[in-house]
Amino acid sequence: MGFLCSLAFSMQFLLLFSSLFSTTLLTTCLPLNHSTTTHHHECHQHESYALLQFKESFVISKYASYNPFSYPKTLSWIPSTDCCHWDGIQCHDLTGHVIGIHLRSSQLYGSMDPNSTLFSLLHLQSLDLSDNDFNHSQIPPKIGELSRLRYLSLSHVNENTFSGEVPPQLSQLSNLLSLDLCSYTLQPVPYDLINHLQLKASTLTSLTQNSTRLEHLRLSFVTISSSLPHSLTNLTSLQRLSLYNCKMHGEFPVGIFHLPNLTHLDLGRNQHLRGIMPNFHSRKLVSINLHRTSFYGTLPTSIENLTSLDWFAISDCNFYGTIPSSLGNLTQLAQFYVTDNGFEGKLAVDMFWKLKMLNTLDLSNNRLSLFSKESAVNKTTVPPIQWLGLGSCNLSGEVPTWIMNLTSLYHLDLFHNNLQGEIPYFLFMLENLTVLDLAENMLEGQIELYMLSKLKRIKFLGLGGGNKLSFIEGKNTSNLTFLSQIQTLDLSSCNLVRFPKFIQHLQELTELYLSNNGIKTIPSWIWNRTTLQVLDISKNSLMGEISPSICNLQSLGYLDLSSNNLVGMIPSCLGSFSQSLQFLRLSKNKLTGNIPETYVKGNSLQFIDFGSNRLHGPLPRQLINCRMLEFLDVSFNHFNDSFPFWLGSLPILNVISLRNNKFHGAIMCPSKCIFVKLHIIDLSHNDFSGNLSSDIIKNFRSMTLSSPSDPVQFKDDLYHFQQSSVDVSLFLFRMFNKGVVMNYLGRQYLHHMVAIDLSCNKISGEIPEIMGSLNSLVVLNLSNNMFTGTIPSSLGKISNLEVLDLSFNSLSGNIPQQLTELTFLDFFNVSFNNLSGPIPENKQFSTFEDNSYKGNKGLCGIQLVKKCEDHSKLPLPTHDGDQDSESGSLFELYWMVILIGYGGGLVAGLALGNAFSGDVFILLKRKF
Ligand SMILES: *[C@@H]1O[C@H](CO)[C@@H](O)[C@H](O)[C@H]1NC(C)=O
Ligand SMILES: *[C@@H]1O[C@H](CO)[C@@H](O)[C@H](O)[C@H]1NC(C)=O
Ligand SMILES: *[C@@H]1O[C@H](CO)[C@@H](O)[C@H](O)[C@H]1NC(C)=O
Ligand SMILES: *[C@@H]1O[C@H](CO)[C@@H](O)[C@H](O)[C@H]1NC(C)=O
Ligand SMILES: *[C@@H]1O[C@H](CO)[C@@H](O)[C@H](O)[C@H]1NC(C)=O
Ligand SMILES: *[C@@H]1O[C@H](CO)[C@@H](O)[C@H](O)[C@H]1NC(C)=O
Repeated sequence: MGFLCSLAFSMQFLLLFSSLFSTTLLTTCLPLNHSTTTHHHECHQHESYALLQFKESFVISKYASYNPFSYPKTLSWIPSTDCCHWDGIQCHDLTGHVIGIHLRSSQLYGSMDPNSTLFSLLHLQSLDLSDNDFNHSQIPPKIGELSRLRYLSLSHVNENTFSGEVPPQLSQLSNLLSLDLCSYTLQPVPYDLINHLQLKASTLTSLTQNSTRLEHLRLSFVTISSSLPHSLTNLTSLQRLSLYNCKMHGEFPVGIFHLPNLTHLDLGRNQHLRGIMPNFHSRKLVSINLHRTSFYGTLPTSIENLTSLDWFAISDCNFYGTIPSSLGNLTQLAQFYVTDNGFEGKLAVDMFWKLKMLNTLDLSNNRLSLFSKESAVNKTTVPPIQWLGLGSCNLSGEVPTWIMNLTSLYHLDLFHNNLQGEIPYFLFMLENLTVLDLAENMLEGQIELYMLSKLKRIKFLGLGGGNKLSFIEGKNTSNLTFLSQIQTLDLSSCNLVRFPKFIQHLQELTELYLSNNGIKTIPSWIWNRTTLQVLDISKNSLMGEISPSICNLQSLGYLDLSSNNLVGMIPSCLGSFSQSLQFLRLSKNKLTGNIPETYVKGNSLQFIDFGSNRLHGPLPRQLINCRMLEFLDVSFNHFNDSFPFWLGSLPILNVISLRNNKFHGAIMCPSKCIFVKLHIIDLSHNDFSGNLSSDIIKNFRSMTLSSPSDPVQFKDDLYHFQQSSVDVSLFLFRMFNKGVVMNYLGRQYLHHMVAIDLSCNKISGEIPEIMGSLNSLVVLNLSNNMFTGTIPSSLGKISNLEVLDLSFNSLSGNIPQQLTELTFLDFFNVSFNNLSGPIPENKQFSTFEDNSYKGNKGLCGIQLVKKCEDHSKLPLPTHDGDQDSESGSLFELYWMVILIGYGGGLVAGLALGNAFSGDVFILLKRKF
């Protein structure tokens, strides 16, 4: 799902999460009440005493419990009364021993004493201390002495719970039937979930070996950080297994799916946990959550055996293949999330209409081709769906009319399909909608503001991009009661000629997309909308200067004013006005002067694009305060500075483009400069001179395979805007000259691309031999310089190289035979040098035409008029058909090469192939 859907996506997550919350956390974290029985025996005095001691070690605080119905049960614990009658205490009918303590949500506050008298209650079978505040104390190891325990719950859904390591002694509790340790904190900004407890793999293993009668095991939010022991498959009585967000990795023991009584399995949000779906035989599974794991493979048709299945979430995994039509048999299915996988094939959405319980259907972001046999649908056959996600599902034709019958719908995502025609009016009558995303289709017609008046609950409205809609505001926009809750509004490409006035009344607005319209001025009231997080007015006709009031927008994370006619200076506050700004694009305007010099320490800037303006001066050294910076483009300006080696200290800088400026001097580091994550550097069309030192090349460590440069790892959770928007937003980067034109799109794509472009400078000396160690390079362009000496044979070791341009230099000697080892090479140019000798013979090199070689008097070969004397009978290269097609497909995986034309040199356009994941491709469509 694209940028625009980040909210939808996060809402989806929240829903998922809140479903989790209700179906897993609340039920798991807060276990069942145990009714107290009538007592025939008085409480034992030492037990009474022990309980009172326990009570005394805590104070009562209503903030200690999360449950709004919590109350202090221990207030009824009065000395000299029968403890068997105390609230929360259960005694054995005959012996009178305390066997149950149920103090869930009892407002207890205080640290747990490791020697608490609690542990002298050796007859205890059931202990529930959940939802109290133990002030981060450890779970006492003495818990292992309560060997009769059958139920143990220490869970908490709020801040101060138990923390630290779960004591290994827990595994002595061999009679446990139910164990619940889940606890976490929800941290709102930046959005994150914090685990408090850690469980050693060895403890988990002995627990599963010893507590073999476990029926309920809830360890969600307990950091396990290991693979799961196979002994888990021995827990044959297991009914519920909850391991959400345990940071597990390794392969999931598939046998767990076959546990005969398993009903609930929650493994969500363990990103590195791999696993497959087995053939299902059991009919008992009710819920399966694999959201955000690395489960992979296909969905077995035997899924039809899961006749009790109610909740099925495998979104954001690595599944592929088709979606089995046998799913249509699962009559209990209520929630079905398979977004963000690799499912493909044609799928009749009608197969789901048999599922009478279905309330959530999300198929977005796969490679499915969805269709609907409209005629087969009528009001009575469509289930009561509330959440329908059909984004990027290749839906074509008109908006399906059966949607009309989904009157409870609150989430409708039709983003990026091929829907045509006008937006049917019935969509605007679905009063419960909170999300309506129609962007990136081929819809047309006029939308008038009043048509939206029934959408009183809408929070996300996406009409823009791709469509040919015209949005008309109409006159009376002042008493706007509808749309009042809107948070995200996308009216990009909606034929707007002025900034819509009604937006002024949208008090909840946080994300506003108005790109690709004809807006000329930004109204000043927008600068008072301090809650705004996204402002995209790119590709309009904005005139005048950027108001310094823009720096009032303290919450702004994403600002795109590119491709307008803005003039004047960039407000100097822009680098320092906010801690939240991550994405700043002002490219393709007519901005002049210096760029902002202050960048506040701790800022969040990840992406800065000032390209294609009239900016000048040096690059401010304060840019090194942008520790999060990944992308810096100042190309096509008049910057005048020496090589900014100091950028090398930015820990995650991935892309630098200084192209077409007046940078000068040698490309070198006076001291250490590491460029830890650098993947793309474009210094072309400047005045760099001097030799290219080996030292600087050595510093491009992330361009070598031997130290595989991890793509920049974003925080685990990308759902919150602050991560997600930038992650999926478009990273556009051009690196072109007469040799190569490329668009680098999308962060995913950037991860594949490793490129150096030093073309059109005055760099002299030899090409350093060490260049050959940058073996993950895909593009190397050194053309139009003054390089002398021979072509280093080491370049033959750059096994990923697809583009090599050395043209217009003064290189001499032979073309090294080693270059024939570059099996991915698709563009090769050594024209206009002083090379001599035969052109290497192999199938790769014979595909390059004479343009690749001309202007070298001494070169000979079949490509050139000049044949080599001693090779007068050149054998035709042998073709290995298989290999050919293999390299062909690999090649297509990365890009399509379009030869645009031949001029003074070759002009090759490398454009994106459609082999990329939906995100990037969609954005390609969206932004261009
Ligand atoms: C718990 O009791 C043992 C022996 O009774 C003692 O050695 C230990 O120091 C006590 N621990 C704490 C934290 O009081
Ligand atoms: C298993 O339980 C028994 C009895 O409670 C205990 O003695 C033993 O130490 C436990 N084993 C492990 C590995 O914890
Ligand atoms: C399962 O239990 C059996 C018998 O109790 C034991 O032999 C086997 O090793 C256990 N399997 C695992 C994986 O622990
Ligand atoms: C599975 O559940 C059934 C019915 O509740 C029960 O009779 C059976 O003992 C359970 N099986 C195991 C291995 O616990
Ligand atoms: C469903 O389960 C039965 C065993 O209970 C098995 O024989 C059958 O193959 C399963 N269905 C499919 C489609 O695999
Ligand atoms: C599932 O549905 C298919 C048709 O969609 C049918 O042929 C098959 O018998 C059904 N299986 C079960 C187990 O009901």
